[in-house]
Amino acid sequence: MTTGRKRTAILISGRGSNMRALIERARDPSYPAEIVLVLSNRPEAAGLAFAKESNIACAVVDHKIYAGREEFERAMQVLLELHRIELICLAGFMRMLTPWFVAQWPGRLLNIHPALLPAYRGLHTHARALADRAKIHGCTVHFVSPGMDEGPIIAQAEIPVLDSDTPESLAARVLAQEHILYPAALARVAEGLVSVTENCQANGA
Ligand code: GRF
Repeated sequence: MTTGRKRTAILISGRGSNMRALIERARDPSYPAEIVLVLSNRPEAAGLAFAKESNIACAVVDHKIYAGREEFERAMQVLLELHRIELICLAGFMRMLTPWFVAQWPGRLLNIHPALLPAYRGLHTHARALADRAKIHGCTVHFVSPGMDEGPIIAQAEIPVLDSDTPESLAARVLAQEHILYPAALARVAEGLVSVTENCQANGA
């Protein structure tokens, strides 16, 4: 029986707290996406244990054993096709993806970033926001394009930066928002309410 829920894979490299938030939200049968595969590029990724406990198919494609980036991605692509994946959520997946891979998933490849893009692409976003004395910080869910932390924005959540914040306290408050934002953004994409236009804008965001 087909339920019409979008078959979704989550790609992780580590802790997997966003993965967990997505899995927990998608347990509701009325949620429009179903998490059917968790794929890690690191065998030791902590998030794999929770995915296994949740009876979700888990796979490891260890990037270190492939000759190059594209061979690694082709191995992932085979698994994604075998599991008839329709949407992919990157959740702390720490590999840059090639234009080839990104082109396989137009409007179907999402990422979460711990900053209000286009501000603070890359790493150490919380420390950089504090160094700039930013008053507002937050997180972004966006469609993936070949550039790092680029691509049409689907949704953002803002939080105030407190005078007392450290990078750790700010990270914790942003992470709590990520866990709300990502399931909400995935639902909108899975329902077809947000899509990518030909000029690479998010339509309906
Ligand atoms: C999150 O802050 C996410 O925004 C970033 O990497 C971190 C992953 O954390 N892309 P987790 O593995 O989901 O706990």
